[in-house]
Amino acid sequence: MPVPSLNWLALSRYIFLRLLCGLIFLPACENKEPENPFAGIPSPGNNPITAEGVAFGKALFQSELLSSDGKTSCFTCHRPDSGFSGSINHLNPHSKIRRQIPSLFNLAWSPSFFWDAREETLESLILKPIQSPDEMNLSLPLLLKKVNQKQELKQMCRAAFQTDSIGTVHVARALAQFIRTIVQQPELPDSEGKTLFQKHCAKCHSGKTTSDFQIRKSVLAPSGIDSGYFRITHLPEDVYSFRTPGLAAVSKTAPYMHDGRVSDLDLLVKMYAKALPAKELEDPDKRSELVRFLKTL
Ligand code: HEC
Ligand code: HEC
Repeated sequence: MPVPSLNWLALSRYIFLRLLCGLIFLPACENKEPENPFAGIPSPGNNPITAEGVAFGKALFQSELLSSDGKTSCFTCHRPDSGFSGSINHLNPHSKIRRQIPSLFNLAWSPSFFWDAREETLESLILKPIQSPDEMNLSLPLLLKKVNQKQELKQMCRAAFQTDSIGTVHVARALAQFIRTIVQQPELPDSEGKTLFQKHCAKCHSGKTTSDFQIRKSVLAPSGIDSGYFRITHLPEDVYSFRTPGLAAVSKTAPYMHDGRVSDLDLLVKMYAKALPAKELEDPDKRSELVRFLKTL
């Protein structure tokens, strides 16, 4: 899998060292465990991230067994070459999904999930796309039957959770662990684009995750079909409010916004210049600097 490079390198090195230390005596393994690459990633007390859990979760994420047509995996929509996101335009024309497929970076730091923040934990979210008729359309009993017929998956479950009888709880926990390791938080050097970003965007797209994940009114005029967080709270002030998305790998996740109404970053920054408003960004050179910076996230 090509992205995210640094994290996967660290993970492969970790698994390799663990295996090596388990198989043969190595002086280097005598006193110290190899460094845990997941140490800095938040996870709930009942589902700590382990190399074995992540490996099982990744296998499930890639597996077409999780769908009724046997052709759809999580990767089909959350495409690694598109920053784990995808366009609604890629979906089958009969699909009722009207929202953009979000990227999955840095979700370990998010207090809620989906564009309208309707789910509070990754573990509770994860079985929904599997069952949704517009996504993988597979019932949970059938899911368990299919995965328990695969020796390879059963072995992975044993390594991760000390049982080879795969239950829905193991599927949910392993997938959640894998998703939490999809991390991209580059340290970027100072530049004019970075300054512009901090001035005009970082109030909401803040910190290393480039989002505080709070729910806010969409700054750019929304299309009007999807009322967002209002559908959860029914409070008039929540109409057109959405969870602020992170911007990691944003150059690969076009089109943008919950409804995909913005086709590219040049247009997006032009629209923000007007909507915020940010007079400074009416200058095309400044906008180019900001777009150049966004492409490095
Ligand atoms: C048919 C396309 C499709 C498939 C297949 C799919 N998803 Fe999604 N996924 C979506 C869409 C669309 C959303 C946004 C829905 C919303 O916000 O209402 C989403 C949202 C998510 C989110 C929330 C992201 C966020 O920023 O809050 C996670 C996590 C997720 N999916 C994981 C998975 C997993 C795990 C699988 C496989 C078991 C999967 N998805 C399969 C289309 C898909
Ligand atoms: C007041 C808070 C706020 C500010 C300031 C803000 N944004 Fe946003 N941003 C949001 C919200 C909320 C969304 C989701 C809206 C939606 O889907 O309709 C969003 C969505 C986006 C997206 C779409 C991401 C995706 O995955 O589709 C991009 C890109 C983006 N913003 C970039 C910027 C840039 C660049 C700036 C500065 C010029 C900026 N934002 C300023 C709140 C803000």
